[in-house]
Amino acid sequence: MTKKELLYEGKAKKLFSHKEKDKLIQYFKDDATAFNKKKHDVMENKGILNNLISEHIFTHLRNNGIENHFIKRINEREQLVRKLEIIPIEVIIRNIAAGTLSKRLGIEEGKELPGPLIEFTLKNDNLDDPIISEEHIRVFEWASVNEIKEIKNQSIKVNKALIGLFINVGIILVDFKIEFGRLITENGNKIILADEISPDSCRLWDKKSLKKLDKDRFRRNLGGLIDAYKEVATRLGIDIKNN
Ligand code: ATP
Ligand code: TYD
Repeated sequence: MTKKELLYEGKAKKLFSHKEKDKLIQYFKDDATAFNKKKHDVMENKGILNNLISEHIFTHLRNNGIENHFIKRINEREQLVRKLEIIPIEVIIRNIAAGTLSKRLGIEEGKELPGPLIEFTLKNDNLDDPIISEEHIRVFEWASVNEIKEIKNQSIKVNKALIGLFINVGIILVDFKIEFGRLITENGNKIILADEISPDSCRLWDKKSLKKLDKDRFRRNLGGLIDAYKEVATRLGIDIKNN
């Protein structure tokens, strides 16, 4: 049997090889980082909660016709995913102004946007993930024009599905970050949603109180991060006790 080999260690996850070469194991760590690692801490059980929440969200997306890399959860910290060639871009979708959008453009945090706003950043920690335009993506060939179109189409579908999922449990989806990869097939390449979707990569506000239920609790030193993630999981109907 082939040994499970550590292929990559990122800020929040590790990637291991799998005996089937077209698959990977995603391992969710407890590390919390912000501002490109300038702030770092370990939050006990965060990885377990993100694994469960991400499983729930990717399953919901699949059930709503949005194909993605998730195959199955293996245990409390690991999931089996399809191995992709990651496009080196983070796609940020915003429904309400917050975070760096508010800082960059002086737009009041909490202001509802007239429609979803898609932004792109380059996945490059040495450069602090700079914001880029579609033109940069095309000119530097990080993705083709067709791929960018497909990424935007899928991002809008993901946003619609997630707004619905969260509003049903009294949570406002303010913004989130997603990643895509290429699946190389005999009939050409396919763009597939990858990575994770969890309170680490979304801004989630309680509908009534506007309480932050996401990583801003860590970024802004508000405390109560694990309780907030548990609240999100419980509201989504995830059984966190028996998992
Ligand atoms: P960042 O997400 O900010 O680039 P990182 O690399 O530290 O930082 P982690 O979440 O710790 O992020 O690491 C997980 C890595 O796995 C990411 O680089 C992500 O692009 C990659 N990844 C996610 N899904 C897949 C997949 N299906 N195939 C190959 N790589 C993947
Ligand atoms: P943004 O306001 O641009 O940056 P920050 O998280 O530094 O305040 O983030 C928009 C959303 O995207 C937010 O929900 C967090 C998520 N995000 C990530 O998960 N990873 C990233 O590297 C970036 C830039 C954003």
